[in-house]
Amino acid sequence: METSEYKEKVAFITGGARGFGKAFAEALATRGAKLVLADIDTATLEATAKEFRTQGYEVLPVTCDVSNQTQVEKSIAATVKTYGAIDILINNAGLHSDAYNKPMGELGMSKLKPLFDVNLMGVIACSLAAKDVMSGRDGVILNISSSAAYGCQTAYGVSKLAVRGLTVTLAHEFKHQGIRVNAIAPGLIFTDTIRAELPQSVVDTVKQQQILERDGEERDVVEAMLYLTSEKSRFITGETLRVSGGFTLQV
Ligand SMILES: NC(=O)c1ccc[n+]([C@@H]2O[C@H](COP(=O)([O-])OP(=O)(O)OC[C@H]3O[C@@H](n4cnc5c(N)ncnc54)[C@H](O)[C@@H]3O)[C@@H](O)[C@H]2O)c1
Repeated sequence: METSEYKEKVAFITGGARGFGKAFAEALATRGAKLVLADIDTATLEATAKEFRTQGYEVLPVTCDVSNQTQVEKSIAATVKTYGAIDILINNAGLHSDAYNKPMGELGMSKLKPLFDVNLMGVIACSLAAKDVMSGRDGVILNISSSAAYGCQTAYGVSKLAVRGLTVTLAHEFKHQGIRVNAIAPGLIFTDTIRAELPQSVVDTVKQQQILERDGEERDVVEAMLYLTSEKSRFITGETLRVSGGFTLQV
């Protein structure tokens, strides 16, 4: 029987309590990875960890706000204490509800600051804190950007464009540690949050701009995550892969 390349690998996933983070975690755990789920929502985090343990997965839940450097560093230290190192870091936590998908002027500084603190500074904080413990292990960092980064019509889009830029910067900076850094830019993907929060008018507009006019599913981003965290993508770094059904794709 083939041994999974994820066996004994340690995956640290931010925003791992639900949505993409939970789906990424499950896909990696079924392939043998040990999980660290870092999330600000302790109740959902504990429920997810309990669910995963009953499935026989190894999981360490850590309550962590990625925009808080002290909490991030403590979470990385707790991971090292429990598992020794980190092989895969998925910077997935992000503020993306409809409340943030607005022009800068409408949001104002009080909402813009947390948006950039989480979506951009959070990615920087986790990556810098994890760099040394990922060094020399063929480590992989995967950032979650968004197709909103390409049109950049909102503050959210700008935060996710910054994630694309950061992906290139960190790919350069972390090459001496043998760490590849890539990103996925998902289009509209139907997670529970999207189902509950996104107005139907927005859903309809986005789908009209896709080449493939079906709903994006969590499975679609999970497959891209598996590719970019695996050996199969070993010559790929600094890239952002769009997983959007061809949303607003132009030459
Ligand atoms: N769902 C989509 O259609 C879509 C499309 C493009 C990009 N994205 C991006 O994918 C990522 C995940 O999206 P999702 O749909 O799974 O979201 P979600 O809202 O379902 O889950 C996000 C998780 O992140 C956690 N979180 C929020 N702020 C945090 C913080 N400061 N520190 C730690 N954890 C925090 C939440 O508690 C939650 O568990 C986000 O970065 C989002 O911007 C989503």
